[in-house]
Amino acid sequence: MTGWWRLIGVAMMSMTGTALAQELGAIKLPPPELEGSMPLMQALKARHSTREFSSKPLPPQVLSNLLWAANGVSRPESGKRTAPSARDWREIDVIVATAEGAYRYDPATHSLMRVVAGDIRPLTGNQAFVASVPVNLVYVANLDRMSEASAEDKTLYSAADTGFIAQNVYLYGASAGLAVVVRGSVDREALGAALGLGQHQRIILAQSVGYPAGTK
Ligand SMILES: Cc1cc2nc3c(=O)[nH]c(=O)nc-3n(C[C@H](O)[C@H](O)[C@H](O)COP(=O)(O)O)c2cc1C
Repeated sequence: MTGWWRLIGVAMMSMTGTALAQELGAIKLPPPELEGSMPLMQALKARHSTREFSSKPLPPQVLSNLLWAANGVSRPESGKRTAPSARDWREIDVIVATAEGAYRYDPATHSLMRVVAGDIRPLTGNQAFVASVPVNLVYVANLDRMSEASAEDKTLYSAADTGFIAQNVYLYGASAGLAVVVRGSVDREALGAALGLGQHQRIILAQSVGYPAGTK
């Protein structure tokens, strides 16, 4: 376990432990930086997919900014997020797989809830770089939150809702000089087993985030 995970780790059990079967502890992230980033039009111009990464880890502040941009709470009075979701279901959980473990991002507390203690990055995709990229995000739909939707609508809307989150990640990544690629090529059965997912949970996409190759 690298230093900062140990330093800011707090020994508390998840109070919102409804997302994944076992949540083992929480890590509070620093508040996101909401000022001074690249203008949106420049970020749109810079956004692209990269498949060559440095092994340099993401600093805690960058991870905080990234996850808030992805699907953080932007309106605390309602709990609504940076990404829209159909009928405000908020059914997509963002799982953060690092060398230290896998964590569910909890938007309400801006914390990481540990769900797996080991390194499952190699299981997050079928491309070689996923094993060493610092962060692989995995988007998991909790279909139980999509009340009264047909099976077809659950499939359609959970995929659409994931797309907004993934684009937020791309745009934050572009603005912060990060390397990013969204990925559909995932062994969902193997990864779902590693994450302890239930029948009501479905892996939609994964997304790798790090620094571009050559960054020290
Ligand atoms: C739904 C979806 C699934 C994708 N799956 C993969 C993938 O499994 N592996 C990969 O390397 N790129 C994947 N990509 C990235 C695309 O290949 C990439 O977006 C496309 O080539 C256009 O390049 P750009 O993102 O730089 O504009 C995926 C993109 C989307 C939107």
